[in-house]
Amino acid sequence: MGEEARIVASAQDLMEPVNVPAEAYVSPEYARAERDRLWRKVWLQAGRMEDIAEVGSYITFDILDDSVIIVRTAPDTIKALHNVCPHRGRKLADVPPGKRNARGRRPNFICGYHGWTFDLEGRNTYLEHPDDWQGKLCDGLADVGQVKVESWGGWIWINLDPQAGPLNDYLEPAMTMLDPYQLQNMRPRWRKWVVFECNWKVAMEAFAETYHVNTTHPEFMEFGQFRGWARNQGLHSNIGYDAPKGQEEDSGKLRLGAGEDPRITTADMQNFTWANANTNTTTTLVAVANRLKDELPEGTPAAEVSRYWIQTARAEDEARGVVWPTVDPQHTSQAGTAWQIFPNFQIGHAVNNMLCYMARPYKGDPDKCIFEAAVYELYPEGQAPETEWEYTELADWPPVLQQDFANMAAVQQGMKNVGFRGAQLNPYMERSIASLHMNLARFMGTGAPLRY
Ligand code: FES
Ligand SMILES: [Fe+2]
Repeated sequence: MGEEARIVASAQDLMEPVNVPAEAYVSPEYARAERDRLWRKVWLQAGRMEDIAEVGSYITFDILDDSVIIVRTAPDTIKALHNVCPHRGRKLADVPPGKRNARGRRPNFICGYHGWTFDLEGRNTYLEHPDDWQGKLCDGLADVGQVKVESWGGWIWINLDPQAGPLNDYLEPAMTMLDPYQLQNMRPRWRKWVVFECNWKVAMEAFAETYHVNTTHPEFMEFGQFRGWARNQGLHSNIGYDAPKGQEEDSGKLRLGAGEDPRITTADMQNFTWANANTNTTTTLVAVANRLKDELPEGTPAAEVSRYWIQTARAEDEARGVVWPTVDPQHTSQAGTAWQIFPNFQIGHAVNNMLCYMARPYKGDPDKCIFEAAVYELYPEGQAPETEWEYTELADWPPVLQQDFANMAAVQQGMKNVGFRGAQLNPYMERSIASLHMNLARFMGTGAPLRY
């Protein structure tokens, strides 16, 4: 078959085994082209709404050469501005050294170079000697440029393309599938970031499949099977576990430990997960799991253990003002455990917690990326902790994540090897990765997965 005939261009094509050439991961030309063809064209998750809760609160978001200020201009309105002074191009808001982004609150933005001043909407309110410009600074030329901004799920989303369509159209079907989880009500328990020695796609793809679990996280094998599916969802994709028949509620993230006595193994898995990943569970779930052996008789069937564990944790949370949304098991099994939002964001959702990843290129170097992870949960009104993005060296992340990280630089190096023949993806478990590259190729004009 000629290369043209092998190009993967539809969801149907993704059902077959495909090969992803290394170009998208290692080519400096490809990485350079991403700025204009990809990053300046797509909706990007740029922060959380709770980070700009007050009028005048702002954060910045950087993607390669571009930087955006997102500011709350009124109790119910946010705006995004290009983070650049229209006079001679100084950045308006500087990121403090060692920080992920700028964050603060102010009544206006004053440029540090010559003092041009802008209100929260970006309109120029002051400049020295305006008459020197002979009336030419009209039609907004002295104002800061606007960026498209919308919100969904508690996140702020920006698009650098002035012609971009609405966020709704872009995010579907992820939006409809995730709305029942009310992710906008969750607040971060922790958020960490670091610079990795790998392409941003290598970092994202390490979390977009369950095929690696047995080898990379061997400790989890004791707790059951982690075989899972991956599906194309238009521009996006999702993954989930294959639950045993009759135990469909176990296809979500709140699942039982396998083995003789699910009361014990569920507690073991919860304790291990809390201590070594600090994600995908909460103190309430862990505490109730640890009481299962006292509160349920030996021999309680797995489905009954699951029901009791979840219902008890739900009731105990409700008693302290933490109300989980109700999602029916049918929907849970369709929604799976995580959504890969094109191109660089993953939401690992559950009814009471979530784990999200994002990766961005670092200074245009195809071999580096900024990687970040945040864990969220539901808190009683007003009791969410104040968190900041913490730069965290690899050795200081939870051990399970370090296991994932251990592959990344080695994959990046390996893909450059003249003997590497392209990624040969598992068409069932790694289809999200093939889906990403099929969609990337539409923006980039190159790098599509190929059928054998
Ligand atoms: S560059 Fe901003 S006032 Fe001159
Ligand atoms: Fe992993």
